[in-house]
Amino acid sequence: MSTYTEDTRKVTTQRLLEMKQRGEKISMLTAYDYSMASIIDKAGMDVILVGDSASNVMAGHTTTLPVTLEQMIWYAQAVRKAVKRALVVVDLPFGSYQGNSKEAVCSAIRIMKETGADAVKMEGGKEIKESVERILSAGIPIMGHLGLTPQSINKFGTYAVRAKDQAEAQKLVEDAHLLEDLGCFGIVLEKIPAALGKQVAEELSIPLIGIGAGGWVDGQVLVMHDMLGINQAFSPRFLRRYANLHDVMRDAVARYVQDVKTKDFPNEQESYS
Ligand code: KIV
Repeated sequence: MSTYTEDTRKVTTQRLLEMKQRGEKISMLTAYDYSMASIIDKAGMDVILVGDSASNVMAGHTTTLPVTLEQMIWYAQAVRKAVKRALVVVDLPFGSYQGNSKEAVCSAIRIMKETGADAVKMEGGKEIKESVERILSAGIPIMGHLGLTPQSINKFGTYAVRAKDQAEAQKLVEDAHLLEDLGCFGIVLEKIPAALGKQVAEELSIPLIGIGAGGWVDGQVLVMHDMLGINQAFSPRFLRRYANLHDVMRDAVARYVQDVKTKDFPNEQESYS
């Protein structure tokens, strides 16, 4: 099977809502460049996220904090050019929306204007209410992100499962309702107990997309480099690897090196007369 669906209609936020209503699970994966986004889109992905995980998997940083708005725009422009069907969501990077709702709307407008993305994603609940309201009032669709929000890793101090205690779980439920009431079209729930994911997905009408949030939520998202096995340094419980591209690519490159060294490449057919 090379593609899941023959339906080539563009995915919209409205279609995601309809998918939740009829119980069809939503697929979402990250991408950061033209070539990979093209493959992912052709395979039938519903949502492509230009995630700030680019900071880790593309730039080699240990957290998502260093990636800049300019860099996110550059990644998103490349992805957008490749995608015909999927909804393209772009992360607002750390520092571009938290402190100041005016700056937040300017950051979101730059992403929409300069990349042609369909929506932005931002981390947090009540703390970013003003920014969420202002961006939505500019007509920009927002996907929320609750639970383990990697931009707050310095506050958490650990990548362990969030909202295991009653107080944090209660706050997450309240934040999810707040984001829905404000007008967000969906929410990513990261690394929380499956029962809490189920509760939130049942209480809200908008789609809840999980990463380490169990199977009862309305869809799943993974980081492309993790699920394709390009990045092997990261093995959380929630990750299912669908390929081992790290070894496939390393072996292909090693064979090329050997062929060059042994003068096997190029041969006569690979040369011009
Ligand atoms: O940046 C990212 O890749 C994300 C996903 C983990 C949801 O936010």
